Amino acid sequence: MRIAMGSDHGGFNLRLVIKAHLIEKGYEVVDFGCESKESVDYPDYALRVANAITSGDCELGVLVCGTGLGISIAANKVKGIIAAPVSDTFSAEMARRHNNANIIALGERVVGEGLALKIIDEFFGASFEGGRHAGRVDKIRTIEENYL
Ligand code: RB5
Repeated sequence: MRIAMGSDHGGFNLRLVIKAHLIEKGYEVVDFGCESKESVDYPDYALRVANAITSGDCELGVLVCGTGLGISIAANKVKGIIAAPVSDTFSAEMARRHNNANIIALGERVVGEGLALKIIDEFFGASFEGGRHAGRVDKIRTIEENYL
């Protein structure tokens, strides 16, 4: 599986930790930056990762900023993206199983590295259940079509 990753300066350190973890687990990671801890704008990196997913180049994505909020809000403006800002392992699993999220967003200033890696493992270890959840996700797509 190819995973797209991106962060702003606020998520720079945690992105590198998660990237190393995913590579060690055997995933192919496409890293869209940022390049350093110099201040940048999180929507730019959200868009790069979102485009990599909607184009089909990558299957899932990981975004990191200070809180996980700004970067997920920006990614969710792209049609076809369901970005879940997550700070706990239960929500990480449910974001895949029930919401079919294709991006997980974390906050470097919110979660420690140990918890972040457990969150990542839950997210990538889970699959969309479909069934009754598919109809709900379809309704999200309909909202996108009508309002985005
Ligand atoms: C950057 O200082 C910070 O605002 C950003 O990383 C993020 O937390 C925004 O939601």
